[in-house]
Amino acid sequence: MTRKPIMAGNWKMNVDHIEATGLVEKLHYTLVDKEWDPEKSDAVLCVPFTDLRTVRTLIDGDRLKFGLGAQNVSQHDNGAYTGEISTAMLSKLGVQYVIVGHSERREYYGEDDAVINAKAAKVLAAGMTPIVCVGEGLDIRKAGEHVEYTLNQVRGTLANLTAEQVAGLVIAYEPVWAIGTGEVATPEDAQEVCGAIRKEVAELYDEATAESVRIQYGGSVKSGNVAQIMAQPDIDGALVGGASLQPEEFAAIVRFYQ
Ligand code: G3P
Repeated sequence: MTRKPIMAGNWKMNVDHIEATGLVEKLHYTLVDKEWDPEKSDAVLCVPFTDLRTVRTLIDGDRLKFGLGAQNVSQHDNGAYTGEISTAMLSKLGVQYVIVGHSERREYYGEDDAVINAKAAKVLAAGMTPIVCVGEGLDIRKAGEHVEYTLNQVRGTLANLTAEQVAGLVIAYEPVWAIGTGEVATPEDAQEVCGAIRKEVAELYDEATAESVRIQYGGSVKSGNVAQIMAQPDIDGALVGGASLQPEEFAAIVRFYQ
């Protein structure tokens, strides 16, 4: 595979900035002990806004050879948007990745494909990499409409982006029924949708773009199941929630491609 694998942790609304230091340090020592090589795969920590400065400092101090990610961003430029954080603010902090369209944002904050598309475009314009989340709920899966539903999200969230932009971003397929439930999609289920996403990108853009875009699977990824999922041809990494809060677990996942 020519695509560089990418393992990302999503701390969600967990870990304050004091706790972040401890977690990163534990991760550092676990990985240093195992001689982790960042050339072989990318690793990213997507942390709460309030932790970004702390984690940036730790990364800059060589405590971790990880990329830094945020979990959300405003679709607006700086201005009168109380409570929002702009892409300009994130990029000034050295943030490299931003998760957009996580199913929790869709479900609790009413974000739809148009908003997520606007956010992805802003992230790209600011020189950062969006991790664009898509994935179906249980009802859609049971109805057997999961592929078409997810592809529709892909079309909506990537609308008006150029081939060059899409080639450089990350798409995370996260079936909602597998998030935080311990119920992981089978490798075949995950591949079915990730393969369909890559095919869709080829149709929307071209083969080269489809070959280049990185597609992650997310949903109850653990050290014990990562191997089977990552063995699938169209899966280039994982977006990890719960297990990213456990240094030993996350270190094992991050080291998968070593
Ligand atoms: O973004 C990661 C995610 O939603 C999966 O969470 O806890 O099932 O690994 P988890």
